[in-house]
Amino acid sequence: MIVLGIESSCDETGVALYDTEQGLIADTLYSQVPIHAEYGGVVPELASRDHIRKLTPLILQTLSEAQLSPQSIDGIAYTKGPGLMGALLAGSAVARSLAYAWDKPAMGVHHMEGHLLAPMLESQAPEFPFICLLISGGHTMIVKVEGIGRYEILGDTLDDAVGEAFDKTAKMLGLGYPGGPIVSQLALKGDPNRYQFPRPMIDRPGLDMSFSGLKTFTLNTWLAAKAKGDESEQTQADICRAFELAVADTLKIKCKRALKQTGYKTLVVAGGVSANREIRQQLTKLMEKEQGQAFYPRPAFCTDNGAMIAYAGAQRLLAGQTEDLNFAANPRWQLTDLPPI
Ligand code: KG4
Ligand code: ZN
Repeated sequence: MIVLGIESSCDETGVALYDTEQGLIADTLYSQVPIHAEYGGVVPELASRDHIRKLTPLILQTLSEAQLSPQSIDGIAYTKGPGLMGALLAGSAVARSLAYAWDKPAMGVHHMEGHLLAPMLESQAPEFPFICLLISGGHTMIVKVEGIGRYEILGDTLDDAVGEAFDKTAKMLGLGYPGGPIVSQLALKGDPNRYQFPRPMIDRPGLDMSFSGLKTFTLNTWLAAKAKGDESEQTQADICRAFELAVADTLKIKCKRALKQTGYKTLVVAGGVSANREIRQQLTKLMEKEQGQAFYPRPAFCTDNGAMIAYAGAQRLLAGQTEDLNFAANPRWQLTDLPPI
């Protein structure tokens, strides 16, 4: 079965073709980052308008790169939520219209299920059951995964998502958007011993997390340095390093607890922040110690992309699941509301 996947929940337009027998056939991405960069964050209205401009050309380009005609496609998968309402509506309207015109089934995909299943696109894919640490710009969850659609959320953030904390840290330091890659790049030059940042909520039982306190600590450290006249790049780098280490350590402690609680030996890390080098290193080390294994998507599939949507939609269409023609997007869709397959 060949499925066309369409992602448009935030600031990337992603289109891909996935074949359930041959794997990924084509994958194209258009990033809106330069459009939003001058505003320091995503401007929803600009995002929707740009998705409308780019979706059709990108779909045509993807089909042409794969040398496939619309007739050879068996279904269309698109991101139905969660995300920005206008951006989701742009993608779902295009996907639904094409499905109607080409007489193909369409499937609305949960964006976070797409992220969660992205490591399945790699040659070394994880097997169920596993613990998934889902870390993106809008979500931070520890999920017990028994199969597709069989999710139990063991831990969540009480305030900011990890990606959001990275983005806000970059903004506070005047480093630009999106913050994650910039902070982690600068952290490479940072001294790991200059600052010690707190590891939030590790002394409390359970798997919930909180990152707003860490954000405030980061701001106060920067303001204190500035008050002493120190606004050097080295100080920014040292702060980025301390921040990144605190985040990685906190996530590692929570994952270790989740593995102990469930007895699982497989950890999947996905979502935009899973591209982070320090977090990957610490979690890989943890899994070696636990005699288990950690799985990640390739860096390009950590952040938003069409391939993960094509993959997730293909699994559901293959299982015979369908949807009616009502294309309403669902910006607040819960992962636990998904049906199992
Ligand atoms: O999954 P994603 O592309 O979009 C959402 O679904 O939110 O994640 C975007 C988030 C942003 O907050 C971005 O700063 C963060 O992922 N991110 C990173 C890195 N690359 C992207 N955070 C830390 N380190 C990175 N290398
Ligand atoms: Zn995402």
